[in-house]
Amino acid sequence: MPQESLEGVDVTMCGIFGYIGKRNVVKACTEGLSLLEYRGYDSAGIAGVVEGKIALRKRAGKVADLCEVLDLVHLDFAIAHTRWATHGVVNECNAHPHLDSSESFALIHNGIIENYATLKQEMQERGVSFLSETDTEVLVQLIAAEYCGDLAAAVDRVAKRLKGVFSFLVIHKDHQEIVGFANGCPLSVGVNEDEVILSSDPNTFLGQSFRVLFLDPQETVRVRRGSVEIFDPGMKQKEKRTLVMESILKPPSKGSFPHFMLKEIYEQPEACKRALEGRLGSNGVFFQNLLLSEESLRDSDVVWTVGSGTSFLAGMVGGLFLEEWASLPSLCEIASEAQYRTTFFSSKTMMVAISQSGETADTLAALRKAKCDGYKTLALCNTEHSAMAREADGVLFLKAGPEVSVCSTKAFTSQLILLALFSLHMSALRKRLGEEEILLLGKSLEQLPQMMQTVLDRVDQIAALAKKYARYDDFFFMGRRYMYPTALEAALKLKEISYVNANGYPAGELKHGPIALLDRNFPVIAFCANEKTREKMISNLMEVKARGAPLLAIAPERMKEVEKIADDILWIPDSSDPLAPFPSIVAGQLFAYEIAKARGCPIDQPRNLAKSVTVE
Ligand code: F6R
Repeated sequence: MPQESLEGVDVTMCGIFGYIGKRNVVKACTEGLSLLEYRGYDSAGIAGVVEGKIALRKRAGKVADLCEVLDLVHLDFAIAHTRWATHGVVNECNAHPHLDSSESFALIHNGIIENYATLKQEMQERGVSFLSETDTEVLVQLIAAEYCGDLAAAVDRVAKRLKGVFSFLVIHKDHQEIVGFANGCPLSVGVNEDEVILSSDPNTFLGQSFRVLFLDPQETVRVRRGSVEIFDPGMKQKEKRTLVMESILKPPSKGSFPHFMLKEIYEQPEACKRALEGRLGSNGVFFQNLLLSEESLRDSDVVWTVGSGTSFLAGMVGGLFLEEWASLPSLCEIASEAQYRTTFFSSKTMMVAISQSGETADTLAALRKAKCDGYKTLALCNTEHSAMAREADGVLFLKAGPEVSVCSTKAFTSQLILLALFSLHMSALRKRLGEEEILLLGKSLEQLPQMMQTVLDRVDQIAALAKKYARYDDFFFMGRRYMYPTALEAALKLKEISYVNANGYPAGELKHGPIALLDRNFPVIAFCANEKTREKMISNLMEVKARGAPLLAIAPERMKEVEKIADDILWIPDSSDPLAPFPSIVAGQLFAYEIAKARGCPIDQPRNLAKSVTVE
């Protein structure tokens, strides 16, 4: 028996899109793909039916690269794909769609077929040969082998044999239909009088109002012009609830900004106002439609925050809010590790899953595991209709508006606002801080938009500093307490978009090892705005200086003593410790952006990354 290892295989995380309707099919598909590029942009492809034959075009590269070589004018209907490779090189052969040997079927897929190796061997023993090393090609060959005239029935029979978390779309040259199947990866269907669209994300349904439905695990969908049928395993047809998407969506635009990242950095004061809107009143914090009762919140005695990347780091700051304001201990864990935890502090632990997209596979897996183990779950998401928003016991929306740049900025500060509000709410429920104090703290959050704007207004100064520091290839970022996760987040921004080696540390930790790396070519960026640790931080700055490393301090205006130590200082407005991450991270974001710009990096779509990471 072959090993069920994914070694050497093109497991994909990506965007899938299918279109049947009145618009030009090729144009509708490429527009849809452009909006799905946040899920991956290594390669792209399209396959459709024309004159009873499958037409296929694919390219390694972005959707724009595919468009440049697209000679297809007319297709009856089509499926299209944008890929983020996890295993297997990025090349045209591994790009989707994949065809069966008779070139009668084309298939695109998102996720992992875990038992692909066994299935592939079985097909090879039956004499089927494969062009690529992808698990996707195994899928299309299997469906071809099972096909007896009914495509959906073949999908149903094959789906029973598949293991993993995935979704796929398949077409056949003789049928005017697209068949889809989902098992844990998102697949939504939008229908109106003129068209039917299938997509990994309903935010790609542009132009008109759609009735939208989401496939549940193990469901098969068959769409034809004007009709949508959903089947449970065994081809049992079922009624499906549909939602109406009220608004007509518009494609996101950069406006007058050169990059989405910069636009989103500048949107933060407004995004924070929206996150606060309607949630602070004379009685304290109020959450509409939270779904979790006050009793069940009050009953929680540990908060377990999980998230990935930036969202994990927001959870770290949130843990400090919870401790400081609600006397609630927290465990902040990286989502991909959280699901392996077997021992908990308390059976009354509540998980708070934090995710901009609400679709990150690692975070979703942690949430599902916690639910399955009987813990209460709350999701903090930006994207409505996302899997986490649907599956958690309670949900709070960031209301930050679409975040397009791969590098997360406004989602982070909106997550912090929600975590601050949530901590104040928990404080009131647990009777920790007095009513007056909660109201005052709530009011202080309303100063944050102005505080962030003050930093945004210092962009020229930040750009000048970035120009000076852009020549270095290694950086340490350091801070204490609230400034520790802030330093981690600022380092993440820089490494992600500038491709320089930037690592964050608690400032007290440098002397336990990392300081050995410092010399005059290894700058340190110090986040100094935590008042409670002021003296200790000053000592840490001196330790860095004594090693000859260039030192840039991001410091509150009151901290004049920094002038004698740091080579460069970026002053930010004074604030209390819990609020200091906000102005500090805006400075860190702009610094990273300006360095990436100075180094000529692509910024909104850094290499090797994707906005929504839907594989574990
Ligand atoms: C960093 C970044 C990533 C995401 C992470 C989680 O700038 O964007 O680290 O924060 O992939 O994504 P969400 O929040 O969608 O779960």
